[in-house]
Amino acid sequence: MLQTGSQLPCVVQKILVVDGWCTGVLFLLVRATDVDSAKHRIWTEVAGRQIFQVLKDKHGEGFEDFIEAKLCPLAGDVMYENFGLDKTKLEELYKNIDIIVNTAATTNFYERYDVAFDTNVLGAKHIAEFANKCTGLKMLLHVSTAFLAGEQEGLILEKAFLKGETLREGTHLYIESELNIIKDTRTELRANYSSEKAERKTMKELGLERARQFGWPNTYTFTKAMGEMMLGHLRGDLPVVIIRPSIITSLLKEPLPGWIEGIKTIDSVILGYAKQALKFFLVDPDTIMDVIPGDMVVNTMMVAMVAHSGEQAQTIYHVTSSLRNPASYALLQESAHRYFIDNPPRAGNNSEPIRLNKMRLFSTILHMVNIALCGAFSPYYNELNGKYRLAMSLIELYAPYTLFKGRFDNMNLERLRMAMEQTNNTEYYFDFDPMTIDWDDYFYRVHIPGVLKYLA
Ligand SMILES: NC(=O)c1ccc[n+]([C@@H]2O[C@H](COP(=O)([O-])OP(=O)(O)OC[C@H]3O[C@@H](n4cnc5c(N)ncnc54)[C@H](OP(=O)(O)O)[C@@H]3O)[C@@H](O)[C@H]2O)c1
Repeated sequence: MLQTGSQLPCVVQKILVVDGWCTGVLFLLVRATDVDSAKHRIWTEVAGRQIFQVLKDKHGEGFEDFIEAKLCPLAGDVMYENFGLDKTKLEELYKNIDIIVNTAATTNFYERYDVAFDTNVLGAKHIAEFANKCTGLKMLLHVSTAFLAGEQEGLILEKAFLKGETLREGTHLYIESELNIIKDTRTELRANYSSEKAERKTMKELGLERARQFGWPNTYTFTKAMGEMMLGHLRGDLPVVIIRPSIITSLLKEPLPGWIEGIKTIDSVILGYAKQALKFFLVDPDTIMDVIPGDMVVNTMMVAMVAHSGEQAQTIYHVTSSLRNPASYALLQESAHRYFIDNPPRAGNNSEPIRLNKMRLFSTILHMVNIALCGAFSPYYNELNGKYRLAMSLIELYAPYTLFKGRFDNMNLERLRMAMEQTNNTEYYFDFDPMTIDWDDYFYRVHIPGVLKYLA
């Protein structure tokens, strides 16, 4: 949640993040037992990270004071109504918040249904209810995902989901009924004295079953889609922007090229390849992987906030690359191979470079299984079998991405970029145009070194 000064200058976010000229305060809702623990989490998990080095260099000894003045911790949880905040705090927030940014989510594809529903669906509902009580709110920005398109093919438009809409023809989704299904399942499990493990398994399977019934490949994208529906339904006249990024990769330029946190999709493959634990992967090399550097996502968010402040509408942005500047898995394979030939990975500091084989990409499971089965007669069977299992687990996990055949339209994003370019503000340029990316250079020079530096 962001509270800025009374006026929203055009570059308000940049000022807040980089320069600190702005009088605004950033309220950060953090899951913690109390404000002190929330503050501790912010210092260790946010401001303590290397990405804040730019601000540390700028403010020197004044860095701590700067952060104390700008970041205001709130101990809360989006699963709860009013995030579990007390009345006095809420009253203060209702009066002072200008902009709400919601990125909270459970991003586990196969999360328990109750947890995913509470976070991604009820979380969005609680945010919308809170937003409706903020008297001077200019904007609610919600971060969703492009992959809530499920397994659709062809051109996917920046179009809102209507409440109840599904991806499977002939079905209608009643979100309230989903909550009842969760509650009934939980009651039944408890009545049968099910173990925690059994409860977790049942809830995970329930999520997947419900998702698939309505055409989504996993619980994550299904609940994110319902979250969008909730927001659209409850927003009333509120200005709402929904940002749908594809796979977010390391920062391209600002403030720290290559910086990334949390291992996501293609990064597991890069790390597995660097250790030579993963030598093959199931993906058609010509498949377009839709990736987008994190700073382009943030730049879009900042410009969209300013552009749509006070506008009583809902706008959706695909922050994606597959249409404007597609990158194939074959391209990543080539860039990674070149990178690791030039910079051979080593098991330890003083050890010999690991012998590198080019990663093989198979477009059919049959082909891949054949290769793995040949290994059954090899003296290295156990090692191969372990690698096969690692590959299979990653393949299964990332199938919604690697088998995806759609392209995300980003006409709205294009319009936003053109509008920004017409403002003649040469002081700051918020780049979110995927056309400016040379993918081979980005993977070789920025992303792969970033993954090895920050994630290995
Ligand atoms: N990463 C991607 O490639 C990608 C792509 C498209 C869209 N997105 C979207 O971008 C957003 C951020 O994703 P991410 O990859 O950064 O995910 P992440 O690393 O899993 O972070 C999720 C964040 O949400 C917080 N959170 C979870 N449940 C919460 C709750 N009940 N109340 C308050 N906070 C809660 C987590 O807090 P804790 O630290 O307490 O766990 C964490 O800080 C998500 O909305 C996701 O759907 C991500």
